[in-house]
Amino acid sequence: MKHITVIGTGYVGLVNGAGLADFGNLVICCDIDARKIEMLNHGQIPIYEPGLEEVVERNVSTGRLSFTTDLDQAISRSEVIYIAVGTPQGANGEADISAVMSVAERIGKNLTEYKVICTKSTVPIGTGKKIIAAIKTKVDVTDFDYVSNPEFLREGAAIKDFLWPDRVVIGAESERAFKIMRDVYRPLFINETPVIQTNIVTAETIKYASNAFLALKISYINEIANLCEAVGGDIHQVARAMGLDGRISSKFLHPGPGYGGSCFPKDTNALVTMAETAGVCISTVKAAISANDIQKQRMVNKLRKLVGGSFDGKQIAVLGLSFKPQTDDVRDSASIVMLEALEREGALIRAYDPVAVESMRKKFPEIDYYDNWETAIAGAEAVVIMTEWNEFRGMDLEDLGKRLSKKIILDTRNIFRPMELKRLGFIFDNVGRLTELI
Ligand SMILES: NC(=O)c1ccc[n+]([C@@H]2O[C@H](COP(=O)([O-])OP(=O)(O)OC[C@H]3O[C@@H](n4cnc5c(N)ncnc54)[C@H](O)[C@@H]3O)[C@@H](O)[C@H]2O)c1
Repeated sequence: MKHITVIGTGYVGLVNGAGLADFGNLVICCDIDARKIEMLNHGQIPIYEPGLEEVVERNVSTGRLSFTTDLDQAISRSEVIYIAVGTPQGANGEADISAVMSVAERIGKNLTEYKVICTKSTVPIGTGKKIIAAIKTKVDVTDFDYVSNPEFLREGAAIKDFLWPDRVVIGAESERAFKIMRDVYRPLFINETPVIQTNIVTAETIKYASNAFLALKISYINEIANLCEAVGGDIHQVARAMGLDGRISSKFLHPGPGYGGSCFPKDTNALVTMAETAGVCISTVKAAISANDIQKQRMVNKLRKLVGGSFDGKQIAVLGLSFKPQTDDVRDSASIVMLEALEREGALIRAYDPVAVESMRKKFPEIDYYDNWETAIAGAEAVVIMTEWNEFRGMDLEDLGKRLSKKIILDTRNIFRPMELKRLGFIFDNVGRLTELI
């Protein structure tokens, strides 16, 4: 059992804090956002993440998990300090590591005995060295170890990903640090979860290489879907057949409106910038980014075409706002590009999402939001599906058609069967599907 402090209590920090407590460690989660900490101290979970509430509750009630805004005390009390603050995209594509660096300095100020400082945040390759230097400038203590321990969890499945990860990556430069981290993750070692022990720079690189590869896969299948549209193929059959090849795998071969979320867009941009700084051209990742931007715009063009060439004055229902189902995270969601275009071009937007309305309201306060999809689509001329929530998958299309003033659907997630839409008399489009298949 280790005493651990997790600094930054967002999607990653809170899941890590709760998960590490579940492993039997004593964990303090710390954040500068007093409102968030107050909510947590009152048993409320500030984000939507399936299963998280239960793990938090379980560990708070046993006294293994607590929350505070008192950073200095939280640092002094623990042997292992995780940095899990945000690293949003900054100017010129680079990751903004200012929050990480300010936390590093604060750790330095509070370092009076040996500790392991472990970065969970996704930070540009080489940041480990900067963090070590920042800690050292604040205090004349060299008795600490630095670890890069990148996070691979997926929002919406974060608890499962944390408790049963595909692998754990630990980048460090001392055996003492490796040993402490092995203790922290003891239950995973017992489960024989693969653990990659490596140096700091390699661990930092693994994170970017992994995310960029997944982004590449999505952009690739989206472009193949666009090709299917042009030549009369069906992307679902293409993707299924491709995915059955073990060398390819079926994961991340789902065509859609372009990837979003808090990681892929910023991490791909950061990787390209990092590589350029290092004198290396990563043209594949650059192409994936550009294909993704085009894909998002392509969805807008499809919808405009479906409604006759202009959005002006038309009531359009947008169903799904989060960047994927099972999360309230709307960061870089494809729906943002859609909403921006609809707003700019004069549409009367009627939006609904099962959990992400409040997150989107902060970005688009003028839009009309509804409590359920039935009222959101009532009288609308067209509906666009932006996120494949299960409640949309289960819609009765006949009923849906009756609620619309015109039966127009853009299905950017390919959740409806084209034949069914045709049979019911919809005017529709999707991403790379063929309506009639033998
Ligand atoms: N969200 C994901 O799916 C995911 C997955 C893997 C890695 N990551 C990486 O993890 C990091 C965190 O991502 P997130 O989605 O949890 O971000 P987030 O925005 O949800 O949470 C970050 C938290 O850090 C807090 N914070 C900022 N500055 C602080 C400071 N100086 N002291 C204390 N707290 C501070 C914020 O108040 C916020 O609560 C990022 O680097 C991200 O790239 C995210």
